[in-house]
Amino acid sequence: MDTLLDRWHTTFGSEVPEVTVRAPGRVNIIGEHTDYNEGWVLPGAMSRSIYILASKKATKGHHWIAYDLDEEIESLEDIFEYGEYPWAKYIEGAIRLYAPEIGPLRLLVGGDLPVGAGISSSSALVCGVLYALQQLSGRNETKEELALIGQRVEREVIGVQGGIMDQFAIMMSQPRHVMLLDCRTREYKLVDADLPGCTWILINTRVKHALIDSDYNQRAAQCKQAVEKIRETFPDVQALRDVDMDMLKDSGLNETLMKRSAFVIEENNRVHEMVQALHEHDTNRAGKLLRASHEGLRHMYEVSCDELDHLADFANRYEGVRGARMMGGGFGGCVICLLQEDELDAFSIACVDSYLDRFGFEPEVILFELAAGVGLATE
Ligand code: GLA
Repeated sequence: MDTLLDRWHTTFGSEVPEVTVRAPGRVNIIGEHTDYNEGWVLPGAMSRSIYILASKKATKGHHWIAYDLDEEIESLEDIFEYGEYPWAKYIEGAIRLYAPEIGPLRLLVGGDLPVGAGISSSSALVCGVLYALQQLSGRNETKEELALIGQRVEREVIGVQGGIMDQFAIMMSQPRHVMLLDCRTREYKLVDADLPGCTWILINTRVKHALIDSDYNQRAAQCKQAVEKIRETFPDVQALRDVDMDMLKDSGLNETLMKRSAFVIEENNRVHEMVQALHEHDTNRAGKLLRASHEGLRHMYEVSCDELDHLADFANRYEGVRGARMMGGGFGGCVICLLQEDELDAFSIACVDSYLDRFGFEPEVILFELAAGVGLATE
């Protein structure tokens, strides 16, 4: 934070920013690719965050800085004409959809949230900017309303047909908890994710394969196609959330759509089983669910990649690890892993070595706490 503030003063002079917002990354214990199928997810906010320092500007023209990237823009034309500065596109989208009247802004963004790691740095940026805009303009929408605007930015400005998991977790999470979120009704309840003697960690593959957005949209489109076909037999079905395995058998879906749909049904069930396992402190059952989720994402939903499989396989064979699975949209990003606390150091070293051997570069082990959602940095 201090370095961000130093940079603010170097560029903008002695006036302090009007608001400083902390927007955390999101983790997800289980429930992947279920949100846009109106199912359930179990995400939380993590202690790594993006900070957004912001003030209204008296003179003409925006002035935005991405501290970690060492990029600075003073003309929005750069974003549109040259397709540069993807981070600024998110900010511009948030302003356009939420507060187009706000006028020129000074903005500085930076923090310790890795970009492209499947922990939703882009949603954190959008949600944090929306919250900053709300503070600057004295409006009073609920955080849920802001989260829904955040989702529209992803869909309408960026073109990714994402669900609401990331924005809800980033906006509304509470420390030490994850949220069991019903993505149809948008009701949620907090769930204690602490398991005695165990800890949750992330391992970042440090890869992000191209075409992730189009692959993601293709999966969402396949789920829609499956629903249309299933409705020929079961007209009440609105989303894959309403389908069970027996209905699927009678649906006449082709092989690909069958695999995708079966995964979503099983993954939804795993979310509820995980809540029970957490409640009963049953770490073995929690681990089994993580393993099964990974296998489904790999073979049925087909959104994993070699790097994720390597880390998940390594972790799942390691004694002391209860279970691990890829997390987020897929095709790169992080593996989430539940392991015995006293194995953390030995496991981290072994895991990094084995990945380095195989791929020639190191993954990043990320330790985190479950944290509160978006708020003023002073909160
Ligand atoms: C991305 C999307 C989320 C969700 C996950 C997969 O993170 O932004 O809405 O669909 O992928 O579970």
